[in-house]
Amino acid sequence: TELTAFQRANEAVSYLRASLPESLQKPQVAIVCGSGLGGLADTIQSDSRIEFDYASIPHFPRSTVAGHAGKLVFGFLGQNIPAVLMVGRAHYYEGHSIDQVAFPIRVFKQLAVNTVVLTNAAGGLNSEYAVGDLVLLNDASRTPAELSSAIANTDPQHLFLAGLAGTHPLRGANEEEFGVRFPPLSDAYDLELRRHVHQAWKTVMSPESDRKLHEGVYAFVAGPTYETRAESRMLRMLGADVVGMSTVPEIVTARHCGLRVLAFSLVTNQAVLSPVPRGDEDLLQNKAAGELSAILEEGKATHEEVLEAGRAAAIDMQKLVIQTLVNVFDR
Ligand code: 6GU
Repeated sequence: TELTAFQRANEAVSYLRASLPESLQKPQVAIVCGSGLGGLADTIQSDSRIEFDYASIPHFPRSTVAGHAGKLVFGFLGQNIPAVLMVGRAHYYEGHSIDQVAFPIRVFKQLAVNTVVLTNAAGGLNSEYAVGDLVLLNDASRTPAELSSAIANTDPQHLFLAGLAGTHPLRGANEEEFGVRFPPLSDAYDLELRRHVHQAWKTVMSPESDRKLHEGVYAFVAGPTYETRAESRMLRMLGADVVGMSTVPEIVTARHCGLRVLAFSLVTNQAVLSPVPRGDEDLLQNKAAGELSAILEEGKATHEEVLEAGRAAAIDMQKLVIQTLVNVFDR
């Protein structure tokens, strides 16, 4: 007979705990590092660090994407915060079921983690967002100026089109050990944690940097194709500020089992919005074919571009996450 997710998570936990010292049996925080954001794991003190390949962990989903490693790292973050980090994650587009993608969250729950930080590389839909900006996932987009005066907590916080249409990680028999049949998501993005992030941002950002911290709405798409212009415009019209292929299944699963959630996007490129590139209406009629294709080429999202912007801004994102967690846990 098939194991429940609860049983599978417990098997994974038994396997992990057999190799963990007493001090890391119950990490307080789990961090999921997205594309190019695995550097956080390198800040873990090397003497306390224990790594597991995803492939070695019972029932754990593997990632096959270039630029995504696949390892679970245990150790102490900051001075003494026991933490578990995922370097790389499995995505729905790789062929995993939507609940399998979020399975690691349930392993974290069974490890007694109470707070999950999710990070990802995403495309910017909001024209105010520059490449390299950071976005805290939340209900409604807010400018940095608005953020400094007030942080409200209203809903909804993400657009989960696949989930709304029935591809949902909690579809099927509800596992009561984790949570209720109909979990609310109105409070998914923890207000207290977001306050700490804004506080930490003031400490970690150098005044010379023009990198911005926004709060915005993340639209999950299944991928693996990037959006057409028409799709990007549609998502923008629906209220999305960033678009990506991860994180939301994990958030939903984390809230189901009562974990505190904080989620960040790093804007690695602008999703293409304009109907004709650069708004030049004569373009289609007047340009030579070669010239036109070069211009169209320019607006294309590529995996390389995503990885490169990730490298540059990842350092600031790492500082921000660490400072936030130090303020929350390490006092
Ligand atoms: Cl433009 N789209 C999607 N779906 N995911 C992304 C992205 C764009 N950029 C980074 N990840």
